[in-house]
Amino acid sequence: MAGLLHNIGELFLIFFFSGPMQEVRSVQRQQSIPDYEAEQVILGAPHTLVGQWIALHWNLPPVFDAAIEQHHRPDPDDDYFPAAAVHAAGILCNPEADEEEWRDTPFDASVEAYLGLSKEDRRTLRERYVSDLASAEAFLNLSV
Ligand SMILES: [Fe+2]
Repeated sequence: MAGLLHNIGELFLIFFFSGPMQEVRSVQRQQSIPDYEAEQVILGAPHTLVGQWIALHWNLPPVFDAAIEQHHRPDPDDDYFPAAAVHAAGILCNPEADEEEWRDTPFDASVEAYLGLSKEDRRTLRERYVSDLASAEAFLNLSV
């Protein structure tokens, strides 16, 4: 569930602040910085913090706080596993990344150590994701 909701703050920002979010994307590209850093510069708050606020507003269980707020930078001193799992899944299952970009995107160092995934594990998980995504697309394109 946290994996489905982790970027809820980004959806909120895109929907309610589409103009400033275009500037965020422009700054992100120009400076080659992560989206959350560009959001902090342009909007004064990253989508992770906005998402945490939404989770609190919706009275979601506390486990969602860290998973949403820390999915880009999990904090080992906080509720770590949900944030680490969402962080890793976000990298392994990024449909926008081509294979080279995906291979070059590292996990946060603490997540790498915590999960203990080898390069082969990562490759196997990525291949499984690509295969499952293709199956899902084929299923959804079925005509009845
Ligand atoms: Fe995010």
